[in-house]
Amino acid sequence: MKKLIITALAGAMAASSGLALAERGGKEIYDSKCFACHSTGAAGAPKVGDAAAWAPRIEQGMDTLMKHAKEGLNAMPPMGTCMDCSDAEMQAAVEYIIEQSQ
Ligand code: HEC
Repeated sequence: MKKLIITALAGAMAASSGLALAERGGKEIYDSKCFACHSTGAAGAPKVGDAAAWAPRIEQGMDTLMKHAKEGLNAMPPMGTCMDCSDAEMQAAVEYIIEQSQ
């Protein structure tokens, strides 16, 4: 809860001062945006930690994974619903998922 308030405050401060928010880490993005589907398999999402499900996807290469993460793929929504994620943040989230799924 405390963290939420701090995050909200930081967001408000950044918005009012015009400063970019500090980049969030892959785990942070995953926990707040990707977890809903990728931890449960909701909507047919490959579960994080399921190496067999991820192996063929990882084989496509990072460029393809990032393209699908950003543009969406079937039930995977564009940006995995993280509409305010920067490219670097999306990549960190995808890398976090891969690290946890090998
Ligand atoms: C609404 C549910 C949902 C959310 C939220 C979601 N995903 Fe997905 N994701 C999916 C589904 C479903 C697939 C499988 C799509 C397919 O292959 O048909 C998928 C597939 C992927 C893939 C594999 C793409 C490929 O080329 O095989 C990546 C990478 C991915 N998601 C990253 C993310 C990231 C990063 C986030 C959070 C920023 C996220 N997803 C949030 C549902 C979701």
